[in-house]
Amino acid sequence: MTGHPLPLLLVDDDDTIREQMKWALASDYQVVEAADRPTALQKVQQVMPRLVLLDLGLPPDVDGATEGMALLREILQITPSTKVIVITGNSDRARAIEAIQSGAYDFIEKPVQLDILKVVLQRALYLANLEEEHRLLQETTESDHFEGLIGESPFMRELIQTIKRIGPSEVPVLITGESGTGKELVARAVHRQSKRAQGPFVAINCGAIPETLLESELFGYEKGAFTGAVQQRKGRIEHAQGGTLFLDEIGDIPLPLQVKLLRFLQERQVQRLGGKEPITVDVRIIAATHVDLEQAIQDGRFREDLYYRLCVVKIGMLPLSARPTDIPLLANTFLRRLAAEYQKPLVGFTTEAMTLLTSYHWPGNVRELENRIKRAVVMAEGRYVTPAHLELEELSKPQGSSLTLRRLRASQERDLVRLAMEKANGNVSRAAAELGISRPTLYQLLERYGLRKSKKE
Ligand SMILES: Nc1ncnc2c1ncn2[C@@H]1O[C@H](COP(=O)(O)OP(=O)(O)OP(=O)(O)O)[C@@H](O)[C@H]1O
Ligand SMILES: [Mg+2]
Repeated sequence: MTGHPLPLLLVDDDDTIREQMKWALASDYQVVEAADRPTALQKVQQVMPRLVLLDLGLPPDVDGATEGMALLREILQITPSTKVIVITGNSDRARAIEAIQSGAYDFIEKPVQLDILKVVLQRALYLANLEEEHRLLQETTESDHFEGLIGESPFMRELIQTIKRIGPSEVPVLITGESGTGKELVARAVHRQSKRAQGPFVAINCGAIPETLLESELFGYEKGAFTGAVQQRKGRIEHAQGGTLFLDEIGDIPLPLQVKLLRFLQERQVQRLGGKEPITVDVRIIAATHVDLEQAIQDGRFREDLYYRLCVVKIGMLPLSARPTDIPLLANTFLRRLAAEYQKPLVGFTTEAMTLLTSYHWPGNVRELENRIKRAVVMAEGRYVTPAHLELEELSKPQGSSLTLRRLRASQERDLVRLAMEKANGNVSRAAAELGISRPTLYQLLERYGLRKSKKE
């Protein structure tokens, strides 16, 4: 025992019982008493007890349990890690079970046997302390997360090493990968690891800006350059002076602009629309895309010379389903963050819920995982997220148009890849040629659909 006895809140409307228990527990705990729900709530807020002994039959409902159950939920909202032990009459098993389902740690029947009560309390305290340690530990590891990137798969570890290595250099980086895999997060991490960390990080989504506006967005314009150009405006490239320019969805840049961009990358000078003087701009370029640029080059939609300028270092983000070992850490981190934000007493996932999370195919990758957990946090009552809160089972049943389409495409893609691999006798180069995709893309698909057999071709 420590010098300061731990506070224990004892809630019972019967003075005699309170006296008895207080007498028995006073040597181990600092016993705080309450005879009704409002007083109990006040005490919880004051002392934040790790242990609560709660008689469910409180006034005005001394024969029922409505007051006690309501108080139980309120206590867990205020201090989710508190262990509440409910005291019930010896004929109310159903009530005891209901209390446990609502998050009570244990129950004990009247008349209370004090030696049993002491053991139950010790065990509860042991668990509460353990959980607290675990939480602190998780918080410290979280602060170790590299630039907001969470993950412990071999892929993520290697990614972090790569970012540390290339961050300080000035080389252009091309980040590829499906939507929601963390491309922008990686771009920001590279920037913060660079000598330009104090400079601006300017992102432009080339896919979201209409073609007609993209040029003036990037390069800026002089007053009077076109109708509506009532005053001079700097482009995004210029805004990134001394920092990093993040060209998101670079695969969507129209060909004429690709030429202009290439010229800028060669000369490091921009000319505003309608401007005469070239302006020298010192920026580091990071680009990202979800399309297969090598394929786009073959199709004549992307310039090869621009590609080589952008892709000095290439980072290929794996889809989340290809690195399932990242899922538990990501899910728990999101849960902790969101539970705090929404003030829910959630502490984790049931085993079934975690199994679902790690086996689901996550077409929307990390972003989808985060959204799904946000929904679960809003829906969930009690201390654990269950499969029902995640609503993933419903998703696997065919329904809803876009989802079905995506699932259909995925399953057809998988079949095609498997067929091509069989036809090519497991030879990746031949299968890739047959499918008309690059070898790295085929490797990604093999990984995603769990079709990878051995390291050797
Ligand atoms: N490894 C990770 N750790 C923590 N959060 C992540 C990780 N990867 C992605 N996220 C989160 O997932 C969301 C999507 O990430 P981001 O925007 O970087 O993806 P993206 O690849 O740029 O997606 P899109 O192609 O749709 O723009 C963000 O909220 C981001 O913080
Ligand atoms: Mg993005």
